Amino acid sequence: MDAGGDAVAIRVLGAADLAAYRALRREAVTLAPVAFLTTPAEDAAISDAEVLRRLAEAWPSAVFGAFVGDDLVGMAGFGANEREKQRHRGTLWGVYVQPAHRGRGIARDLVRAVIEHAAQHARFLDAVVSGGNAEARALYDGLGFERYGVVPSAQFAEGAFHDDILIGLLLDRPKA
Ligand SMILES: CC(C)(COP(=O)(O)OP(=O)(O)OC[C@H]1O[C@@H](n2cnc3c(N)ncnc32)[C@H](O)[C@@H]1OP(=O)(O)O)[C@@H](O)C(=O)NCCC(=O)NCCS
Repeated sequence: MDAGGDAVAIRVLGAADLAAYRALRREAVTLAPVAFLTTPAEDAAISDAEVLRRLAEAWPSAVFGAFVGDDLVGMAGFGANEREKQRHRGTLWGVYVQPAHRGRGIARDLVRAVIEHAAQHARFLDAVVSGGNAEARALYDGLGFERYGVVPSAQFAEGAFHDDILIGLLLDRPKA
């Protein structure tokens, strides 16, 4: 697609994207501390082997990346549920777009890619969004996610407690 400027390509990340993915994760957990539960120190402590497993060995779990040229500028993950009785539920996680590339539809395209992928592997897509994250809540609302719960004071970050809003999308009738 062309998001009003440089062309943007969305694809599943693999082992060759390890360094770029780690750099984008480091940026995300640093610049968006309320949107990500992982702290920068926790993120740095995860081994490359574990990140590689997440990227290349956990299918149908997958991480989608948005590229402008060769640059990874955004990401969104799909987590498959490994428990046999919960395989019909998957999770959208780790949605992030670099500040310079926001407002061009990249997050919507990333989440749509996750929804399309999830629909082949699950019947319900879960996600969690911080109560005060108006941008992300509008993004998910627009894609048809519905709120089904709240976790009060789910995290303490940036000197305050933040509720988590639990949202989900029924994949046999997605509105995206
Ligand atoms: C939230 C985030 C992913 C949006 O990325 P983006 O690429 O700018 O979003 P898009 O351009 O695809 O916008 C899609 C929709 O999201 C909503 N949205 C995005 N930015 C918004 C803003 N600043 N204010 C209000 N709504 C906004 C709108 O509904 C928008 O649709 P519209 O353009 O038709 O109004 C980005 O701001 C980000 O990375 N934030 C920090 C990390 C984060 O909060 N991640 C989500 C964790 S749950």
